[in-house]
Amino acid sequence: MIDFTGKVAFITGANGGIARATALLFNQLGASLVLTDQHAEPLDAFAASLPNRQARCVTARVDVTSTDDLDAACAMARAEFGGIDQLVAAAGWFPESSVAAMTDAHWHQVLAVNLDGVMRTCRAGARVLRDGGAVVNVASRAGHAGVANHSHYAAAKAGVLGFSRSLAQELAPRGIRVNCVSPGLIETAMSAPMREKMGDTRIALTPLRRNGQPVEIASAIAFLASDWASFITGETLHVNGGAYMAG
Ligand SMILES: NC(=O)c1ccc[n+]([C@@H]2O[C@H](COP(=O)([O-])OP(=O)(O)OC[C@H]3O[C@@H](n4cnc5c(N)ncnc54)[C@H](O)[C@@H]3O)[C@@H](O)[C@H]2O)c1
Repeated sequence: MIDFTGKVAFITGANGGIARATALLFNQLGASLVLTDQHAEPLDAFAASLPNRQARCVTARVDVTSTDDLDAACAMARAEFGGIDQLVAAAGWFPESSVAAMTDAHWHQVLAVNLDGVMRTCRAGARVLRDGGAVVNVASRAGHAGVANHSHYAAAKAGVLGFSRSLAQELAPRGIRVNCVSPGLIETAMSAPMREKMGDTRIALTPLRRNGQPVEIASAIAFLASDWASFITGETLHVNGGAYMAG
């Protein structure tokens, strides 16, 4: 069994479907948590609902477009726990715009969250990550295959893949591994508009004939963050029911 007892995980976007499933799984596996999101209030109720009371959980309001927010949360993590062992960058934003209608400002806003936000998270997090730790960045099938009317998001996620491989090389001397998970369509609030628009079309194109559940991404993140993946770095784990393979 994977055992995270004594580990400390720092998670961004922790009000989200995938991040909450990850936080719950890490809590069940014994990890203490630093949960962060741009909206702080719901985090406290969620933290109070976590079943493993042996593991501690602290929360902080962090907008990943703010270096100051991330630095402050990482300083808090150091003060509370002496450092962190696992960093999960899960904050994300998936708005819709064709390239034809894209303003410069909107393009930059989407990259600020989905690409710059991951860089800022990793830059601040690496300073408090203990040697031998692990980073898991949540990318997307969109970063590999593209998605019409979400080019900004797809470009940002493709950037996350290249960024993560570079960071993996920079942090390897400290024994810190950096990997990505690239989800396909997962049933969370983020994908609700797309699921409604596409109906069963996406499911029909997915060999396993269903959408994914947040816990199926959480378990991939837990694997990559664990010693079971101790010789894996600079890699991307696709979790999409075969949809990427099938196109
Ligand atoms: N759901 C899917 O189908 C799917 C597919 C591929 C990739 N992903 C990725 O998985 C991750 C989690 O997505 P989800 O499906 O759980 O979405 P979600 O909408 O449920 O959660 C996203 C979370 O990110 C937070 N967030 C957004 N902007 C932020 C900011 N500037 N600062 C801090 N927090 C911010 C939101 O408050 C929210 O809690 C994202 O990176 C997303 O791009 C999701």
